[in-house]
Amino acid sequence: MTFKPIRKAVFPVAGLGTRFLPATKAIPKEMLPVVDRPLIQYAVDEAREAGIEQMIFVTGRGKSAIEDHFDIAFELERTMSDRGKDLSVLEPTRLGPGQCAYVRQQEPLGLGHAIWCARDIVGDEPFAIFLPDEFMHGSPGCMAQMAEQYQETGGNMISVLEIPREQVSSYGVIKPGKRAKAPLTEVIGLVEKPAVEEAPSNLILSGRYILQPEVMRVLESQEKGAGGEIQLTDAMAHMIGDQPFHAVTFSGSRYDCGSVAGYVEANLALGLERADIGADVRERATALLV
Ligand code: G1P
Repeated sequence: MTFKPIRKAVFPVAGLGTRFLPATKAIPKEMLPVVDRPLIQYAVDEAREAGIEQMIFVTGRGKSAIEDHFDIAFELERTMSDRGKDLSVLEPTRLGPGQCAYVRQQEPLGLGHAIWCARDIVGDEPFAIFLPDEFMHGSPGCMAQMAEQYQETGGNMISVLEIPREQVSSYGVIKPGKRAKAPLTEVIGLVEKPAVEEAPSNLILSGRYILQPEVMRVLESQEKGAGGEIQLTDAMAHMIGDQPFHAVTFSGSRYDCGSVAGYVEANLALGLERADIGADVRERATALLV
């Protein structure tokens, strides 16, 4: 059986980014660069690679730099081409007419509420969600790996990651069922930010989802959960049993760019990998360690 490809993705980007202050006082945290590309660009690239056509950003006040980033910068492009400069570096920032939509989340009521704000644009079809500060790096990308599995399973799908048990209370955690054909695991329960001793596993939700539109209906009446927020994890938990629910273990690297140390790590890792500057970065990083 084949399922219709996923065409739409939601990027919740309304968060305040307080962990990165003062850098994020006037700049959205999603615009912080990893080497020379903003974090949000990596997520959009990953979506495109997976065949997704429409990007829906759930923004808030002070996030207009994201809209500008994915727009045509006429003066910049004109000046660059007059000077004979190569414009191809801007290619990934182009989202065509109708390929992006912006909706505001007026109040920080939680991730579930942010996703629900996009309900009318998502409409009645399965869609993807990307949390851009979970930086998933690999080839093929995380969503492309999930989309491939989705073709077999349909239903709902999340990416998961194994972490040390003592860290699970910062994340959504799955209760795994039977291990299907690798990299798939059946999901039989989900809990948001459990106490370490109550966590059903050490497999956490790592910021990539393919969900059926019914989740919007569940979110409609979702009560507040962990941290007093409307949680996407709680809404998804309601759908287990009604629809297939699988987890995919991503084959690649994950950098937690929601934390300052993880963000610095991502910069170093990607800098080291780059064909143009990698050797130079290695030399400089090595010199710092002696
Ligand atoms: C969110 C999700 C959580 C997930 C995490 C990944 O939590 O609610 O399930 O594991 O992202 O980073 P937040 O980081 O917004 O508290």
